[in-house]
Amino acid sequence: MSERKKVFIKTYGCQMNVYDTARMKDVLAPLGYAAVETPAGADLVVLNTCHIREKAAEKVYSDLGRLRPLAAEKAEAGGRMLVAVAGCVAQAEGEAMKKRAPIVDIVLGPQTYHRLPEMVARALRDEGAVFDTEFPVEPKFDFLPPPGAEGPSAFLAIQEGCDRFCTYCVVPYTRGAEYARPAADVLAEAKRLVATGARELTLLGQNVNAWAADGWSFGRLLRELAEIDGLARLRYTTSHPLAVDDELIAAHRDVAKLVPFLHLPIQSGSDRVLKAMNRGHTAADYLRTVERLRAARPDLAMSSDFIVGFPGETDAEFAETLAVIREVGFIQAFSFKYSARPGTPAALMPNRVPQEVAEARLAAVQAALGELQAAFNAGCVGRVLPVLFDRPGRHPGQLIGRSPTMQAVHAEAPADAMGTVRPVRIVGVGPNSLAGELLSGDEREAAE
Ligand code: 5AD
Ligand code: SF4
Repeated sequence: MSERKKVFIKTYGCQMNVYDTARMKDVLAPLGYAAVETPAGADLVVLNTCHIREKAAEKVYSDLGRLRPLAAEKAEAGGRMLVAVAGCVAQAEGEAMKKRAPIVDIVLGPQTYHRLPEMVARALRDEGAVFDTEFPVEPKFDFLPPPGAEGPSAFLAIQEGCDRFCTYCVVPYTRGAEYARPAADVLAEAKRLVATGARELTLLGQNVNAWAADGWSFGRLLRELAEIDGLARLRYTTSHPLAVDDELIAAHRDVAKLVPFLHLPIQSGSDRVLKAMNRGHTAADYLRTVERLRAARPDLAMSSDFIVGFPGETDAEFAETLAVIREVGFIQAFSFKYSARPGTPAALMPNRVPQEVAEARLAAVQAALGELQAAFNAGCVGRVLPVLFDRPGRHPGQLIGRSPTMQAVHAEAPADAMGTVRPVRIVGVGPNSLAGELLSGDEREAAE
């Protein structure tokens, strides 16, 4: 057994990066690396980066600057802090990172982190900086130790990459072409996660509903996963409207474990902007898809992503985005100011929207979404929701869980409710959570 070493991994960006961070910890564990919560004193620091918007990418360089004194301290104490940059900034910038931030020892892309142990060994042998940002032919999933669940709610990456090439987006360049994991591998990993304590699985992919493998559609995969005993809930993110097919809609109708909540990005309500974004659908197409989904699952709540201030976006076009938000009645969404990303077609488009206009539009979108969210939360008061308790509460005797629509719910609950789904009556609404009361045994019987 090698001596214990400390690894600190910082995760930026999306849930796929959260999953990747957990897998990097898995591949490093056999080398004796234990994960720690702070970079001070660590033997290895990994920044698992995000390139989706400029702000996220720039943050990596300021964080690298902050590592310098910590690395110096470690060296003074006779040790060495290796610094690795992983994820999408690493993929996009490659060897250039070393020039801008000489502290960097290892640069690895999202497709090569199964080779991290080898890269660490090479860096420790002082072979100079180690770069590995290829898209290897062997899928990394075949080389990763099978994960166990870290809690009642687990992520499972089933798909990676994107072939859609929206004109603003770096993902097709940093994550590469679409890859779907084989059905048998997904099922085996899901069973293992459930056997090790997961009650809820969130299937992950940059274009998750484009998953198809071994003759199975994504809808079929959802049906098969729902058969796993002990699994209570299934979610998936993030999806594309064009990959919502009849089988997926039917799964939303038939698969009770599939939560009545769907994150389906639309980005804009303007057909001119959607076309310039190369989304491949109109606002009406999106609305029609939502209508069909809701015909299949009437209580389906919707979430989305929006970009405001895309090049050339006019006030009238922006007003169409606000109109779509009201029409669908999203209960939650992520909204962003357009950020020009080097190498993407939109970065070369004329008529950039002034920052102050983009900011005002972002505020308007967020106000509209905030109102809808508040109304939805208020409407939950008095209802009984199934809550999956997954975290301790703020004081002993309290647990925090999630409703099917992802609201945090606080309730007094016995310790053995942890990791279970319980019916909870919602009695109050806070700014970011709901307050609930567990149903008593009698009430439960009456409800069943
Ligand atoms: N600028 C702003 N937002 C972006 N997104 C992707 N690329 C950009 C960009 N260049 C947003 C989209 C996407 C989400 C993950 O990030 O809304 O759905
Ligand atoms: Fe990016 Fe568009 Fe692919 Fe989503 S569908 S990852 S926004 S290119």
